[in-house]
Amino acid sequence: MTTQVAQDQLELYRTQIETALGQAVDGSRAPVSLYEPCAYVLSGGGKRVRPLLVMLAADAVGGSGAQALDAGLAIEIFHNFTLVHDDMMDHAPARRGRPSVHVKWDENVALLVGDLLVGVAYDHLLRTQTDRLRPLLDRFTECVVTVCEGQALDKEFESRADVSLDDYLLMIAKKTGCLIAVSLEIGGLIGGGDARQVAALRSFGEHLGRAFQIQDDLLDITADEKLFGKQTGGDVLEGKKTFVLLHARECPTLSAADRALLGRVVARDGLTAADVPAVRAVYERTGALERA
Ligand code: IPE
Ligand code: IPE
Ligand code: MG
Ligand code: MG
Ligand code: MG
Repeated sequence: MTTQVAQDQLELYRTQIETALGQAVDGSRAPVSLYEPCAYVLSGGGKRVRPLLVMLAADAVGGSGAQALDAGLAIEIFHNFTLVHDDMMDHAPARRGRPSVHVKWDENVALLVGDLLVGVAYDHLLRTQTDRLRPLLDRFTECVVTVCEGQALDKEFESRADVSLDDYLLMIAKKTGCLIAVSLEIGGLIGGGDARQVAALRSFGEHLGRAFQIQDDLLDITADEKLFGKQTGGDVLEGKKTFVLLHARECPTLSAADRALLGRVVARDGLTAADVPAVRAVYERTGALERA
């Protein structure tokens, strides 16, 4: 495929995904306190990386991207559920340049919107025209469980000072890598890929998912908040054990003052947004940003 053809194909898929997500939930339906915030979440934009990967994986094994659209929507809708609950868990005020659901409405609304989205996700997955529905459901359901485990580890690590890089890599494989890997795996299954092709797609997704979360950690401390659409420095305020924090702590030339500041991040010792630039400077000096 030439670059232009590939670009046009991506744009076509992106439009199909965006249109279908806009129709997935009717925001004017009763109870409005449930459906309106649900439609707000699904219409909020986002990169739509996961459904694109589902469709592209189906293409890559010689199948039809269009046939994989419903499964792509299922993955994207499930992803949106994780974001709504994640923002509550991370005390994040904004997402995609708008207030988070628990801020615009409240925590009860955010809980219920998340619950509904899981149901809507399964509904879309079940619409997939394939004779491989059982393996699709198995892979997807395993991933629902794995993402919950990853999110639990992420929260546990906030109050632990001894998190290693290996602990971190396992945590991000579960909270982020799994869904990206499953996107590619499910796309490959729908596209009719053989066992070797599907395993290769999954393996690619595991690596891509790891890189994706490391980049997300990097952006959390380096991004321009307006472009990022999320609060920058949120990971510092929450004591998240991110790639950059773990690397900076291991720097052999860390000064006593820098070590003390990182110690305050690790211990969640009352840091505010005003402290974030100083933490970022430590990440810069120690080469952690470069490493990420
Ligand atoms: C954010 O995911 C959560 C992570 C797993 C890092 P994305 O960066 O894909 O968010 P959207 O969907 O594009 O907004
Ligand atoms: C998100 O990790 C992982 C999931 C939502 C499962 P983060 O908490 O880093 O994601 P953002 O930065 O809030 O998007
Ligand atoms: Mg989180
Ligand atoms: Mg978060
Ligand atoms: Mg993040």
